[in-house]
Amino acid sequence: MLRRFIPRYYSTIEIMSQIESAKKLAAYKAVDENFPKDAKVVGIGSGSTVIYVAERIGQLPNKDDFKCIPTGFQSRQLIIDNKLHLGSIEQYPDLDIAFDGADEVAPNLDVIKGGGACLFQEKLVASNAKKFIIVADYRKKSQILGSKWTQGIPIEIVPNSYTTIIRELFKLGCKKVELRQGGKAKAGPVITDNNNFLLDADFAEIENPKELHEKIKMLVGVVDTGLFIQMADKAYFGEEDGDVKTWESKK
Ligand code: A5P
Repeated sequence: MLRRFIPRYYSTIEIMSQIESAKKLAAYKAVDENFPKDAKVVGIGSGSTVIYVAERIGQLPNKDDFKCIPTGFQSRQLIIDNKLHLGSIEQYPDLDIAFDGADEVAPNLDVIKGGGACLFQEKLVASNAKKFIIVADYRKKSQILGSKWTQGIPIEIVPNSYTTIIRELFKLGCKKVELRQGGKAKAGPVITDNNNFLLDADFAEIENPKELHEKIKMLVGVVDTGLFIQMADKAYFGEEDGDVKTWESKK
């Protein structure tokens, strides 16, 4: 009798654990290959992949020798939970290195961030770091920003400017924009760690992310956008097969 080929399909649980282990592998490798031996100030980003960055940094034997700067409430908790030394960006504005997650990464290392509503402090920390490393799983790799992260560019805004900013975003070519809502967790809009609102502005595939970022940033009431232009030095992606791929900036 002929043996029939039976394709094996992965269950949702298997896919989830594959993604989780991809995140962990990328984060551990990023720390192992980049953490400066004599680091004094280190930025810790936000999201589910950075959990493993904090875990790995928490295993370092010299963890009493440096301060960790958070990018929001969750990141502050990660620093505390891993028994790292918490500092603030006001006290320690010169960072040796910062690690953070991403929502979508282009080959030139332009990045969309802000899916977790922490983009402003993330950008503040990253822009003050000598080296900025992205950690992510394979789903975040993209050829053109806006093609994979389709819920729109996160934009942090001063609350009472949302009506005028929405109007201006449409003039810039925005297809759809939402004031991010708390969903089941909160009736009404999400309030960021800086007491602001967030818009998610869908511009479809973004031909020129730098130009778009600059135009949005000029609007009165915009605190910052989730477009991180030429800030990252290297990105680590955990792959489905257990490998870790890296993309490096040519800046
Ligand atoms: C937070 O606002 C975001 O910029 C996160 O860094 C981003 O959403 C990555 O999160 P994950 O690691 O959970 O994908």
